Amino acid sequence: KEPKIITIDGPAGAGKSTVAKEIAKRFGYVHLDSGALYRAIGYFCKLKGVNLTKKEEVLGAIKNINVELLPNGRVLLNGKDVTKEIRTPEGGVLASQVAQFPEVREFVVKLLREMAVGKKIVIDGRDAGTYIFPEADLKIYLTAFPEERARRRYKELKEKGFNVTFEEVLKEVIERDKKDESREFAPLKVPEGAVIVDTTGKSLEEVLKTISNLINN
Ligand code: C5P
Repeated sequence: KEPKIITIDGPAGAGKSTVAKEIAKRFGYVHLDSGALYRAIGYFCKLKGVNLTKKEEVLGAIKNINVELLPNGRVLLNGKDVTKEIRTPEGGVLASQVAQFPEVREFVVKLLREMAVGKKIVIDGRDAGTYIFPEADLKIYLTAFPEERARRRYKELKEKGFNVTFEEVLKEVIERDKKDESREFAPLKVPEGAVIVDTTGKSLEEVLKTISNLINN
């Protein structure tokens, strides 16, 4: 039976959103990019001059936030398209800062569950299979060696015109993993019942084939 909810978790740069987007396209799922919500919140706080280490300030700010994930992958923050602005290295750091707060996570989780009602969804994130949708029909843990993940991220950022070095990207990837794995509330870990897919040295097509087989079985 075709899964109704597919979760894809894993560390930064494992290729989760690329894979989720493709799976959505090929199998007719709605793609929920949970990282985009944390990124939009982090970005909003930065715009408003919120001190990201102060929980009360962050919680005050999110009261005025409305984030939408459009079917074409665009992200709207209070009606404004911020897709490009949030996908920066800084955006990732801001996201993981706001993602530390349980109340922020609950806010995001509630939104995601609402977005999923009555739909076939594929969601990528850090806690999609452990916390957001523990009842998911198919759980995938996508991973790869840190150097490979940093290499992909580096290439992606270079293509977007960012002036970064490989060493910086590797350092950022490792730091973000540590933060995501060691957080107290809903940390990054392999969900119970998940299939681990290691993408080190594999092409996107090979990874998609592996996952397609899991969906069809
Ligand atoms: O996946 P992406 O790089 O967009 O995620 C940015 C950050 O948002 C992650 O490093 C993590 O700290 C946070 N995040 C999270 N839980 C999710 C998705 C993202 O904590 N489900």
